[in-house]
Amino acid sequence: MRSTKPITTFSLLGVLLLLIASPASWSQQDNGIESRINALLGQMTLAEKLGQLQQLDGEANGNFRPEHLELARKGLLGSTLNVRGAQRTNQLQRVAVEQSRLKIPLLLGFDVIHGYRTIFPISLGEAATWDPVSVERGASVAAEEARAAGIHWTFAPMVDIARDPRWGRISEGSGEDPYLGSAMARARVHGFQGDDYSRDNKVVACAKHWVAYGAAEAGRDYNTTDVSEFTLRSIYFPPFKAAVDAGVGTFMSSFNALNGVPASANPFTLTKVLRDEWKFDGIVVSDYTAVEELIKHGIAADGKEAAAEALSAGVDMEMVSRNFNQNGAELLQQNRLTQHSIDEAVRRILRIKFRLGLFSNPYTNESLESKVTLSASNVAAAREVAARSFVLLKNDNNILPLNKNLGSVALLGPLADDKRNMIGSWSGDGRAEDAVSVLQGIKAKVPQLKVNYAKGCEVNCEQTSGFAEAVNAARASEAVIIVVGESADMSGEAASRSSIDLPGRQLDLIKAVQETGKPTVVVLMNGRPLTINWIAENSPAILETWFAGTQAGNAIADVLFGDVNPGGKLPVTFPRNVGQIPLYYNHLNTGRPPDANNKYTSKYLDVSWTPLFPFGYGLSYTKFKLSNLQLSAPRIGTNGNVTVTADLENTGSRAGDEVVQLYIRDVVSSVSRPVKELKGFQRVTLQANEKKQVKFTLGPSELGSYSRDLKFVVEPGEFKIMVGSNSVDLLETSLQVQP
Ligand code: NOJ
Repeated sequence: MRSTKPITTFSLLGVLLLLIASPASWSQQDNGIESRINALLGQMTLAEKLGQLQQLDGEANGNFRPEHLELARKGLLGSTLNVRGAQRTNQLQRVAVEQSRLKIPLLLGFDVIHGYRTIFPISLGEAATWDPVSVERGASVAAEEARAAGIHWTFAPMVDIARDPRWGRISEGSGEDPYLGSAMARARVHGFQGDDYSRDNKVVACAKHWVAYGAAEAGRDYNTTDVSEFTLRSIYFPPFKAAVDAGVGTFMSSFNALNGVPASANPFTLTKVLRDEWKFDGIVVSDYTAVEELIKHGIAADGKEAAAEALSAGVDMEMVSRNFNQNGAELLQQNRLTQHSIDEAVRRILRIKFRLGLFSNPYTNESLESKVTLSASNVAAAREVAARSFVLLKNDNNILPLNKNLGSVALLGPLADDKRNMIGSWSGDGRAEDAVSVLQGIKAKVPQLKVNYAKGCEVNCEQTSGFAEAVNAARASEAVIIVVGESADMSGEAASRSSIDLPGRQLDLIKAVQETGKPTVVVLMNGRPLTINWIAENSPAILETWFAGTQAGNAIADVLFGDVNPGGKLPVTFPRNVGQIPLYYNHLNTGRPPDANNKYTSKYLDVSWTPLFPFGYGLSYTKFKLSNLQLSAPRIGTNGNVTVTADLENTGSRAGDEVVQLYIRDVVSSVSRPVKELKGFQRVTLQANEKKQVKFTLGPSELGSYSRDLKFVVEPGEFKIMVGSNSVDLLETSLQVQP
C-alpha cells in the first residue's frame, strides 16, 4: 500500500536516544572543559588561534621537521600527522607545552587504519569477519600500540560505502552495505576510543571521508561524485551517523566534489547535517591539501577564497596546506570570515585536546612502547582475526582442509613467500620483517611436510620463464597451493584499476599448474573483488584472504590445514566483469527486472546480470541448514517490533561458524525500495550436529526508510522478511505493517 503521509517520524526519539547514548563522562567533564576553553580563547592572539587550525605533515620515517619546533614554540601549530614514536613525539610536545606562551599541547595524528605495528587484515578483510567483536579487538590493539608510540589521533575508521571495485580505496572500508558498514563503524570507534580516549591505551577516532568519496565516477580516485540527497541519506550517511552515535571525536572532509560543491567546502554536509542535525561537536579536519585543492575544483580563485569557503562551510583544521593560517587575518579584516567562526573552530580543536587529557597529561610514558608493541597477546589477536576474515569461495569434493599427513605439497605463486604485500597498502608502522609468509606459516604448522616452493612469476609478470619450475614442483607433489593476487600497492589511495582481473600472467600460471592434474587450492590476496571467472569455474578450491596482516601466513596455514574452519562472508559483491559495475545486492528492482526469456528486460547481451559471488557469500568446511523461519506476529503497527527466529543446524561433522543474515524488502512504498536490505546478522559457532535458534528484532529503525520528502518513516504494507546464509539463498516470509 502506498502512503504519502509520514506515519512515524523519529527525529524527536532520535535526539532523545542520542542524549541517552552519549558517553556520560563527556557531559560531566565538559562543563569544566568549556569554561577552560573560554578562558584560553580570551587569552589567545589571532595568530595563536589560526595556529591551532593548522596541521602539518612530519616525515615518512615518523620524524618532525625543524620548522615544526619553531612553530610549536611560537604557539602557531595545532597538530601534526605522521610524527610518531614515544621519544620523538615527547620531544616535539615538550616544546609546545614548556616553551610556548599558552602551553597548549599538540594533537598528534597518524593513519592507524588496521593496526599500528601489529597489523590486522585490511579493513575490507576485517569486515568479512562479519564479527564486530573481532573488529573492535583489532582497533583496540591498534589504539594501544599507537598511543604508546605518542599518537593521540587516528585517521580511521574509513566508513565510505563503495560499490565500485575499480576504486582502490574499497580496500580501506567495509564494503557496499550501509548496515554492515554501520556495525563496523561502531566497532572500530569503540575499539579505538573506548569510553574515554584520555586513557593511555586509546586514541580519538576520525570518521572519513565525509562524504560520498566512495561514489567516485568510474572508480577513479578523487573523481567527481553526484549523489541525490535521498541516496546520501539512505546509503552513504548511515555509517557516519553510526560513528557519531558511537561518540567519534573527529571527522575528515573528503577530496571529491559532491553535487557540484567540493565536500571540503560543503555547508550542507559539514554544517547542516553534521553539526545542526547530528549535533556533532568535535573536529572536522580537511583531507590532505583538500583546502588548497578548492582552487583546482574551480570554486576559489586563490588560497584566500579557498580558506574562506572551507572554514565558513565547517572545516576546522587544515591538513598540510596553509590557507587558513596565511589568510585568516585578512579575511577577518575584510569581514569575509567572522571572529565567531574562527573561535568555534578553535573551540572544537581545544575540546578534543581536553577530552584526550592532553592538558593534564601531554606526554607519553616512554616505557610503555616496547612493552605493548607486538606483544604476544596482540600478535595472537592478529592471527585469530585474520583467520576469521577468510572467505571460502569454493571447495569441491572437500579438497580443503588439507591433511596434515600429506607427504608433499607444492607451494607456488608470487605471494607464497612474500611478507611485504600481506600487510596491505596502509599498514601504519607495520614492517615486512615482523610478518609471517605463507611458506613460513605452513612450515611452522606441518614441520614434517615436504614443501616444494616455486614462485612461478611476479604479481605483474609478463614473462613465463618461471612457469616450468612451478609446474615441476606441482608434478613432484601430492597437492598444490598457489598464492596469487594483487600487490598491496594496487589498492588503497590513488590505486584504481580499470581491469580487476588477476594482474600479469598469474592466471596462465594457474592454468599451467592445473594441467598437471594435481588437486589445486587457490589462495587469493587482494584489496578488492577480482574478476576470477576461470578460477571460479575450473579450480576446485578458492580461499579469499585479502591482505591479512602480520600474521597472515600463520592464519592461512591454520585454515588450509583445518585448525580453523573458515566462516567469513563477502562484504562486497564479486562481479563477473568490469562492465557490470556498479553491481551491488541492494539495488532497486526497475520496471523491467531481468528475465532470461524476455529481451526487453534489464540485462546484458554478453554476460549474465548476476554476480560471480554475491554479497554475504562464503562456505565452511561443515554444512549448515536453516529452517523454521518464524515471526512473533504476522502483523505489527508502524511503531511496533517483531521478533524473527530461525533454526540453524550444523549438519556436518565438524564445528564451524555460520553468519546468519536477515534481509527485508518493503514491497510497496511511496519510493522504490531495494530488492533486499540487510537488517541483521549474527556469526554463530556450532559444534557438529548442534542446533540453535537464531533471533533478530525488527523495529522502526530497521523497517523505516526515507520518504519522498526525506522524512524517515515506516510505511504500512507488506514487508518480505528473508533469512539466509548469503544474500541469495534465503528463506522467506511476509510481515504486514498496519497503520
Ligand atoms: C589522504 C587520505 O585520503 C586520507 O585518508 C589520509 O588520512 C590522509 N591523506 C592523511 O594521511
